[in-house]
Amino acid sequence: MTSSIEQEFKSGMRLLAGAVSLISTGGKGVPPKGLTATAVCSLAVEPPRLLACVNKSASAHDAIDENGVFCINVLSESQRELAHLFSDNDAIDRRFSTGEWTQLTTGAPVLEGSLCSFDCKVADGIETASHTIYIGDVVAIANRGALPPLLYFDGDYSTLAGLSAS
Ligand SMILES: Cc1cc2nc3c(=O)[nH]c(=O)nc-3n(C[C@H](O)[C@H](O)[C@H](O)COP(=O)(O)O)c2cc1C
Repeated sequence: MTSSIEQEFKSGMRLLAGAVSLISTGGKGVPPKGLTATAVCSLAVEPPRLLACVNKSASAHDAIDENGVFCINVLSESQRELAHLFSDNDAIDRRFSTGEWTQLTTGAPVLEGSLCSFDCKVADGIETASHTIYIGDVVAIANRGALPPLLYFDGDYSTLAGLSAS
């Protein structure tokens, strides 16, 4: 049963607007895996590092461990359907059939048309409760500029006021 502090936590976190990314991973001879995520943030510049928090139950979790690489693809507002696909448990096997996917350095899938792709090698993975906090060493970046971002706020997708392209 969910305690009241947990319910209040969930209600409060709905009010923390977040940029939406797709975390992708891949390796030689294995199918790519990925998930929709907001728990991504910058850690350091020297060296360039970021954090990505992934539920241990997500289909991409063990694949990130095995491949030792992942890519953070920061979604634009126009990529909302991909956010749905990569968070739909029934769509695990067809997630990468939508969108244009390439590679940079590590071999992790890189999404064309996203605002920015951060190609990372796993520097560390800190297990905590239900999640692993992955520390990624950023080894390559594809920066495509300040398109309207896809945000998640109060249980729904939106973008920054004044930047919507739709
Ligand atoms: C807006 C949004 C943000 C999410 N953020 C995260 C996240 O940061 N970390 C995470 O592990 N799951 C996150 N999820 C949940 C995963 O996308 C979802 O569980 C997905 O189905 C991955 O599990 P699967 O590959 O086993 O289906 C988020 C979902 C949504 C819709």
